[in-house]
Amino acid sequence: MDRDFGRGLYIDGQWQQSRSGRSFPVTNPADGSVIAEIPDAGAEETRAAIDAAHRAFPAWAARPALERARILMDWSRAMEAHQDELARLMTDENGKPLAESRGEVTYAAGFAQWFGEEARRVYGEIVPAATSLKRIWVLRQPVGVVGAITPWNFPAAMVTRKVAPALAAGCTVILKPAEQTPLTAIAIVRLLEEAGIPPGVVNVVVGQDPVAIGDALLDDPRVRKITFTGSTEVGKHLMRRSADTMKRVSLELGGQAPFLVFADADLDLAVQGAIASKFRNTGQTCVSANRIYVEEPVVDEFAHRMAQRVKEMRVGRGTEPGVVVGPLIDRQGYEKVKLHLEDAVRQGASVATGGRVYESGGGFYAEPTVLVGVEERMVVMREETFGPVAPISSFKTEAEALERANATPYGLAAYAYTRDLARGVRVAEGLEYGIVGLNDGMPSTPQAPFGGFKESGQGREGGRQGMDAFLEIKFVSVGLG
Ligand code: SIN
Repeated sequence: MDRDFGRGLYIDGQWQQSRSGRSFPVTNPADGSVIAEIPDAGAEETRAAIDAAHRAFPAWAARPALERARILMDWSRAMEAHQDELARLMTDENGKPLAESRGEVTYAAGFAQWFGEEARRVYGEIVPAATSLKRIWVLRQPVGVVGAITPWNFPAAMVTRKVAPALAAGCTVILKPAEQTPLTAIAIVRLLEEAGIPPGVVNVVVGQDPVAIGDALLDDPRVRKITFTGSTEVGKHLMRRSADTMKRVSLELGGQAPFLVFADADLDLAVQGAIASKFRNTGQTCVSANRIYVEEPVVDEFAHRMAQRVKEMRVGRGTEPGVVVGPLIDRQGYEKVKLHLEDAVRQGASVATGGRVYESGGGFYAEPTVLVGVEERMVVMREETFGPVAPISSFKTEAEALERANATPYGLAAYAYTRDLARGVRVAEGLEYGIVGLNDGMPSTPQAPFGGFKESGQGREGGRQGMDAFLEIKFVSVGLG
């Protein structure tokens, strides 16, 4: 795989430098070393990308769905074929352990495959008309040019989760990957080019100033849709700004996931699920268990078993064998984790295992940590930590558990562990969240609609519903005479 990213902008089928000739460094979070210099694009390059996407749209939208599907399927196979190289690149720029990066490549390829399959199922409807002299057709058509803004925590999968359905629907795309992790995105778009994507259908613009790129996308009425994964704060800004040109928006925003464990649960399974959910990607996922609530009679046993398992988890560089918790993405992430931990301990929580947050060799690390005796007033229970800290609190009744789980403006993912089927149904239905893992700590999959209630976002990605975000509905009333 080509590791030269000097011509990392992709506009109208051409890999190019920025117009200013400026570039910026991409660093390895494990040690702060520079791994690549990439072109620093801004408004001018973004406008050129919009021009290209706008020109390419009619021909791409008119291509038979099966042809679009073939390109997506080839793209999916190419990602799988390059799994090791892509995983290495991802670990270098994001820090996640290699095994997780490999898993993410499969996850990313899964979206290209799933939406390649879905491309052929963009059905319309014929609706009975009120008179025999009319027919009513309902058509679903691509929304148009899409601005896709993706985050650093899943440098491949969040790209394919947005770009694949957009392409399947017949839309063209300007992709703006996170400035911390653009290399994986560039690498997978190179594979998409090899799979035969026509010039202008997908464009990549990346720069140190995300606001300049974002504003160019938001200001241009030809961009008909913004799809974004990131913070709730930025999501709200994008939504407000999209109102001016009435763009469609899909937003995957912050979470504050509760993880409920009832006394009748299989405790080992619950511990395994909590670890999978909490420590995946060093706790830097929107669906990470942020608050663990355990029913009083089993809270000590659960905390003990979890601490025993967590104690054995190795933290370090993602490329080192045996490491399961990598570095935090940057100083800002580190400061947040440190603040959450220090606040909790100051207010009376105890560290059952872990607790060290440190700088080492130019990288920022946090030990996988289990906290007990936490209270709702602590920052760690009120805000998304985005780090490997698992706070455990106890509850007395199902009603209390649900009330505390739902007492947040967020509503992305929640988890519940119980062997009681009726309780499982009640709790799954009562949780005000878009995703519920019932005895499952890792619910994410390309086949299912991912997205949040309340301030966690708008719309769904993945699943059959993931296509809807990129389609407009039109009805045609046909008069027969
Ligand atoms: C995210 O954290 O933004 C995505 C996590 C997932 O797809 O499971």
